[in-house]
This record gives sequence, structure tokens and C-alpha cells, in this order.
Amino acid sequence: MASDPNIRAHKARLQDAQDIYDLVNSLSGDGTLLRRNYAEVCENIRDFTVVHRATPEGDQTFLGCGALHLYGPHLAEIRSIVVKPEFRGLGAGDEVLEALMAEAEEHKVLSVCLFTRIPTYFEHLGFRVAERDAMPDKIYKDCQTCPRLYACDEVAMVKGPLPKIAVLGPREVQKPQLVQLQLTGTR
Ligand SMILES: CC(C)(COP(=O)(O)OP(=O)(O)OC[C@H]1O[C@@H](n2cnc3c(N)ncnc32)[C@H](O)[C@@H]1OP(=O)(O)O)[C@@H](O)C(=O)NCCC(=O)NCCS
Repeated sequence: MASDPNIRAHKARLQDAQDIYDLVNSLSGDGTLLRRNYAEVCENIRDFTVVHRATPEGDQTFLGCGALHLYGPHLAEIRSIVVKPEFRGLGAGDEVLEALMAEAEEHKVLSVCLFTRIPTYFEHLGFRVAERDAMPDKIYKDCQTCPRLYACDEVAMVKGPLPKIAVLGPREVQKPQLVQLQLTGTR
């Protein structure tokens, strides 16, 4: 939790979309965060939590954001967690994470996952490293269309039991459904 009581996390509103869009995409170039287009941020604004600091003049300075994506009662994912460089180290990141975890708890989600390059940051909130294949919903949602699919340097982490079900994509491909390639006569 932030030691400064003026730093507070709260659910995002549509009027936060531009700040979220600018900040998330400022770190998407090097792959730290997944790129989000503006329409996607607006459409999913209810997933986002933002953190602001109240100024003595009564204004609110935008410090950062994060999102909780719900796959179902079995799994949610923490995404797009970021604090502006000039406001890091003030507890704003923890403020957002704690709010997102509380939200997952309100929904009684069994497990929360995330993919990250900085696993040590998430360990202090009880996340542990897991096999990425253990989160098939995440793979179907993002990884399959990601240009870094075969060069991914992110670590999968989970808090709670590994999900036993998936709601996205085929659960398994039945052998009779596999199509045999007909290569004869193609040259
Ligand atoms: C990760 C990030 C959100 C942390 O935000 P922050 O506001 O600086 O974090 P806090 O001030 O709440 O720090 C909380 C604790 O985490 C530690 N911490 C912060 N960044 C860390 C990092 N990169 N690695 C390990 N620990 C880290 C802090 O030292 C602090 O520990 P303490 O409570 O023992 O002092 C921020 O550094 C950031 O935006 N990074 C770039 C985006 C990114 O990598 N996001 C994660 C994508 S999955």
C-alpha cells in the first residue's frame, strides 16, 4: 500500500482512457506491455483500475493503471500494469495490484495469472512461477496472435490453484478431425 494517503486506486472511467492508452503504449514498443489500441481500451475500460495522487489544489494526477480480465470463475488475468516512470517507488504499483486482487476476490475467482518479465515484483503478492501451458485461456486470447509467440521472454505466474478448465479454444483436437495433407500430384 502507498504510504502517501493522497495516492489512491479506483475503477477507471471512460475519461481515463486517453491516459491509459498513452501510458500502456509508451511501453509496448519493447514488448514490456501488449499494445492496446484506443478502441480496445475504451471497450475494456471496466477492466481497468487507475491510480491518482490528489494535489493540494484538489487536482488528480494520473500515476498509472492496471487491468483485471475475467476469463471465468476459474481464472482472471492481471494485465497492463504500469506506473509512470517519474512516480515509481511510491507504492502506486502495489496500490493498483491490491485493488485488482480485491476485485478478483469480489468475483470469487479461483486463480489469478499474469505474464511478466519482472517475476520478482509479483512474488511479494503471493504469485508463483508456472508453466505457461497451464493457462490455455491466456494462450488462446493473446499468445497465438502475438509476433513474439516463439521468442517469448515472459514468465507465467499464478496465484491460486492451476486452472483445471479452459473456456477459450478447442479443449482437445480429436484425431478423426485432423485433416490429412494430400501431397500427391502437387509438383
Ligand atoms: C512494476 C511497476 C508497475 C512497479 O510500480 P511502482 O509503483 O514503482 O511499485 P511500488 O512502488 O508499489 O513497489 C512495490 C514494491 O515492489 C518493488 N519493485 C518495484 N519495481 C520492481 C521491479 N521491477 N522488480 C522487482 N521489484 C520491484 C519495490 O521495490 C517495492 O518493494 P518494497 O515494498 O519492499 O519497497 C513499475 O516499475 C512499472 O511500471 N514498470 C514498467 C512496466 C512493467 O514492467 N509492468 C509489469 C508488466 S507485467
